[in-house]
Amino acid sequence: MIISGKAAIAAVIGYPVKHTLSPVLHNYWLQQYNIDGAYIPLEVSPENIVEVIKTLPKMGLRGCNITVPHKEAVIAALDEVSDIAKRIGAVNTITVTNEGKLLGTNTDAYGFIQNVKNQVADIDFSAGRAVVIGAGGAARAICAGLQDENVPEIIIVNRTQEKAEAIQTHLGGEIKVVSWKDRESVLSCANFLVNTSILGMQGKPALELNISLLPDNAVVADIVYTPLQTQLLKDAKDNGLKAVSGLGMLLHQAVPGFEFWFGTKPQVTDALYEYILAK
Ligand code: ATR
Repeated sequence: MIISGKAAIAAVIGYPVKHTLSPVLHNYWLQQYNIDGAYIPLEVSPENIVEVIKTLPKMGLRGCNITVPHKEAVIAALDEVSDIAKRIGAVNTITVTNEGKLLGTNTDAYGFIQNVKNQVADIDFSAGRAVVIGAGGAARAICAGLQDENVPEIIIVNRTQEKAEAIQTHLGGEIKVVSWKDRESVLSCANFLVNTSILGMQGKPALELNISLLPDNAVVADIVYTPLQTQLLKDAKDNGLKAVSGLGMLLHQAVPGFEFWFGTKPQVTDALYEYILAK
């Protein structure tokens, strides 16, 4: 690893930040591509976040990733926010321009879509409806990404229906909300199903869903990646459906930031998966 006096520096900022895998991922790529740079975790509390972001250009940082709970609060510190970040209502990647301006974007939608395309090369999002389970921040980004892939209709089901309705109102377009108890009634008309909730995650309750109600050509994705093969994905495969695991979303969403800050578009390889899974 090279970190000279000319090193390019980027960071991930969260509160807390110790759970994040981003430093492991970015520093793997820095080493892989022999780049003079470093990527560091910074724990910044909510009362200091705006001031710290405004200070990034003065410190010479190239930019940063933003994680919970700051993805909305940082917007107040930025000079420009991309259209996709505005639609999602959250920023996860900040770039400092040569002129010292702060640009914010959100790469979660890109990461999600790239991960699906990577695992199911012939995916055709425009072929039919998508069912989205959950209505947190991840769901918001995924719905925006699905809209950009011309999904004809998105159906959101969430335990707290108002949160699904808030996404429907915010994003507009062809989005329908169906109650949690009726979630299985929408499966027979779905081309694509994604779990964006924490159900099925290690230590959390299971996602109870009868996958056999989906059409034979449906694709099933999970953004949960602990465990990598969730029960939902196992059920999908048992039913002969294509299944997309969640870790790749995390890896792909990191690509645009790395390219902005360090000047090389990094690859998401099998070796990277193995490296991250071993961490
Ligand atoms: P993120 O912003 O990372 O997507 P989040 O806002 O915590 O995370 O969202 C977690 C999702 O899991 C939400 O859709 C949540 O449903 P609520 O909006 O009703 O809270 C869903 N979730 C969590 N526990 C659940 C449970 N026991 N049953 C059903 N849904 C659950």
